[in-house]
Amino acid sequence: MLDNRAPLPTEIARRRTFAIISHPDAGKTTLTEKFLLFGGAIQMAGQVRAKGEARRTRSDFMKMEQERGISVSASAMSFDFGDYRFNLVDTPGHSDFSEDTYRTLTAVDAAIMVIDGAKGVESQTRKLFEVCRLRDLPILTFCNKMDRESRDTFEIIDEIQENLAIDVAPASWPIGMGREFIGAYDLLHDRLEIMDRADRNKVAETVQITGLDDPKLADHIPAAQLATLREEVAMARELLPAFDRKSFREGHLTPIWFGSAINSFGVRELMTGMGEHGPEPQPQNAAEREIAPEEASVTGFVFKVQANMDPKHRDRVAFVRLASGHFERGMKLTHVRTKKPMAVSNPVLFLASDRALADEAWAGDIIGIPNHGQLRIGDALTEGEALRFTGIPSFAPELLQTVRAGDPMKAKHLEKALMQFAEEGAAKVFKPMLGSGFIVGVVGALQFEVLASRIEQEYGLPVRFEGSQFTSARWLSGDKDAIDRFAQVNKGHMATDHDGDPVFLTRLQWDIDRVVRDHPELKLTATKEMM
Ligand code: G4P
Repeated sequence: MLDNRAPLPTEIARRRTFAIISHPDAGKTTLTEKFLLFGGAIQMAGQVRAKGEARRTRSDFMKMEQERGISVSASAMSFDFGDYRFNLVDTPGHSDFSEDTYRTLTAVDAAIMVIDGAKGVESQTRKLFEVCRLRDLPILTFCNKMDRESRDTFEIIDEIQENLAIDVAPASWPIGMGREFIGAYDLLHDRLEIMDRADRNKVAETVQITGLDDPKLADHIPAAQLATLREEVAMARELLPAFDRKSFREGHLTPIWFGSAINSFGVRELMTGMGEHGPEPQPQNAAEREIAPEEASVTGFVFKVQANMDPKHRDRVAFVRLASGHFERGMKLTHVRTKKPMAVSNPVLFLASDRALADEAWAGDIIGIPNHGQLRIGDALTEGEALRFTGIPSFAPELLQTVRAGDPMKAKHLEKALMQFAEEGAAKVFKPMLGSGFIVGVVGALQFEVLASRIEQEYGLPVRFEGSQFTSARWLSGDKDAIDRFAQVNKGHMATDHDGDPVFLTRLQWDIDRVVRDHPELKLTATKEMM
């Protein structure tokens, strides 16, 4: 993360594009809702959930999501907060959809990690954190549910430091907890924030003070709690690192705020922290060169494709992260993979209230482009330059099953449905060299259920997933003749993915090791760059 670049154009510099990561139930939805509330995007808390449910009733796929209480699909929301434009990209919380999350995180410049004050770092937090770390994403931490019995503040901080190997700098310090929780001391601005228990949607009262010796504190905090606060903050200042912008930007240090999302407490401070310190749109990597956000020419890449966002239209929406330039509606961009021009006449900006047509967008923004399947994950859009954005991987699936249409006459339909899901990134689809049918690969078992349900709902095609003789897949690369020779001898193990790229399927790690050893001319990989 570079801090010493020339200043960005104001419109770009004010943008903050980020995701929220958390273990299910830590409070991500509640926090998102409060963000939208304070961002003026919704008038009343409860709308996100209500809206979510309204949407779900329109689609059985979503009904399934609702039943399971997980968020399967990710979306993007834009809203203003003070001088800043926030682009919040939602990530699925369930680990079975981790690949989707990974790709979503390629489109953001920072992440907010929400943890439950009573539970600390949970399994899914850790996994998602590791993904952020791979990309050195700066992380802001929100310790939620301080209105409940929580762990000791030092213990929480220690756990994060030890478990995630990252420095933690308190941005605020909680005063009491559970029923005794009255607010927090803002260490970055020397302010006292007092929670309003009567009105959950009311922002905390802020008392400006000169420091912990300010006599005004006694007007707001009972003597015993004040003594504890002074003692703990003194200890924290001595023992814990202070906030350091550079270290934060490099992903080595996370500032932590303590709050209660449901009580709107600490949310505004977190948002202010994101505005003041969260990175502006960062340069993006392409195979050819690095793309700077301030470049005049528009470039962007597709990081997510979602089908049937609007059940009335069988459309797909490609989510594009703009990497550079100032986009205007109607612009003709080049779809680099097919080298075809594409007039982007109806791009969508995801305002929280609803989808809205985007008349303009800047580097850092996420726009949705409705299309009929031309746009795939990893695709680049530019004003003519042949760019290939890197770092958007496809992972080898960890679970493989064969899939059959309930009605054998419908095999062609099934193929079409599977190809759509493969292009969306919802599954890997392999066509074996021998025999008929398809092998579908996913990362988490729940994805099979979602797929079966979607194929039935969207294509009217009942399907059966059955165990496959294979458990692992590896992409095969190298000289074409060498691959062909290898494939001829290993027909029973060979397949092609939806791009037509060769894949080696097996049940044994031993087999993979053998190929690696005996065929130095070939490369077996567990990831493939999507482009
Ligand atoms: P998630 O998206 O991370 O899964 O979490 P979500 O926001 O749905 O929150 C999970 C539960 O925690 C919800 O309760 C929510 O109301 C509660 N919660 C969120 N923030 C706080 C907080 O600051 N303090 C307390 N005490 N609870 C909080 P639920 O009973 O599952 O749902 P609901 O009936 O309240 O909607």
